Amino acid sequence: MTVPDKPSRATWLQGPAAPCETVPKGGFLPWRVILLGAPGVGKGTQAELLNQRLLACHLSTGDVFRGAGSRNDAEQTPAMQEALACMRRGELVPDMTVWELVRERGECLHCTGGFILDGFPRTVPQAVSLKQFLDKDGLGLTAVVSYELPASEIVSRLGGRRTCEKCKAVYHITQRSPKVEGCCDHCGGDLFRREDDRPESIKLRLEAYNRSTEPLIEFYRKAGLLLQVSATGSPEEIYDRTMPELETRRLALAAERMWAAEENRRDT
Ligand code: AP5
Repeated sequence: MTVPDKPSRATWLQGPAAPCETVPKGGFLPWRVILLGAPGVGKGTQAELLNQRLLACHLSTGDVFRGAGSRNDAEQTPAMQEALACMRRGELVPDMTVWELVRERGECLHCTGGFILDGFPRTVPQAVSLKQFLDKDGLGLTAVVSYELPASEIVSRLGGRRTCEKCKAVYHITQRSPKVEGCCDHCGGDLFRREDDRPESIKLRLEAYNRSTEPLIEFYRKAGLLLQVSATGSPEEIYDRTMPELETRRLALAAERMWAAEENRRDT
C-alpha cells in the first residue's frame, strides 16, 4: 500500500463503502476542529492549509453534496435530489438529510487522525446531533474556529472563486490564481465556477447564515470551545493567526487531561 502524502478523503466524499487510504497518525490528542463562518469567508481555504499542518482530514458537507450532484440522476436518492435543489437555490439542506449523510460517515469522526469539519454543523439541531454522537464515545472537540469578515469582502471572494472538479482545491481568479488558467496546480483537474456563486444565491446563502448558523457562535462560546479569528488579509496571514490559537487551546486541553489522570490515580 502506498502512503498518501496527505490524508485521503475518499470515505468522506463517496460514503462508507469507499476505501480510505489515510494512515491515521493517532497519538495523545487528535485534532478535532470545526470551522464556522459565513459562505465565502475562506473556511475551505483555511481547511486546506490546516490539513497540511494538522494531518487531520478536511471534511466538507458541501463537497459531498457537490460530488453527488456530479453523478448520474438515477444514482441519487429522492432526499439527495431535494438536497441538491436546496443547494442550487442557496438554501440550507434539511437537517435530517445532512445528519444522515454525516452519521453514515461516522468512521471519519472516529478516526484517530482527527478531523477538520468545514460547513457542518450549520444549525443548532445539527450541532446537538453532533455533540450527542461525539459524547457517546468520549470524542471531545479541540476547538471551534469562527472566521469573521465584512459582507462586502465576502461577496468579492465568492464572485471570483474557482474550484477543482477532481480534488476540490479552491482558487480565486485574482487573489489566489492557479499557475495555468483553468487548471488545478495540485492534480491538473479542470476548474469550475460553483452554481451557488451567482449573485441571487449568494444573497440567500448570507441570509441563511445570519438566521441559522450565527446562533452557533453563542452555542460554542457557552461550551467553552469558541476561538474567534479575523478573516481579513491573505490566507497565509489568517492561517498564522489561527495556528497559535489552536496550539494554545490544545496545550490547555492536554494539561486538563493530565490533571484529571493524576487525580484519578490519587483516588485509586
Ligand atoms: P459549502 O460548500 O459548505 O459552502 P459555504 O459554507 O457557503 O462556504 P463556501 O464553500 O462558499 O466558502 P468558504 O468559506 O469555504 O470559502 P472558500 O475557502 O471557498 O455549502 C454549500 C451549500 O451546501 C450550502 O449553501 C447548503 O445548501 C449546502 N450545505 C452544506 N453543508 C450544509 C449543512 N451542514 N447544512 C445544510 N446545508 C448544507 O473561499 C472563497 C473564495 O475566496 C475562494 O475563491 C478563495 O480562493 C478566496 N479566498 C479565500 N481566502 C481568501 C483571502 N484570505 N483573501 C482573498 N481571497 C480569499
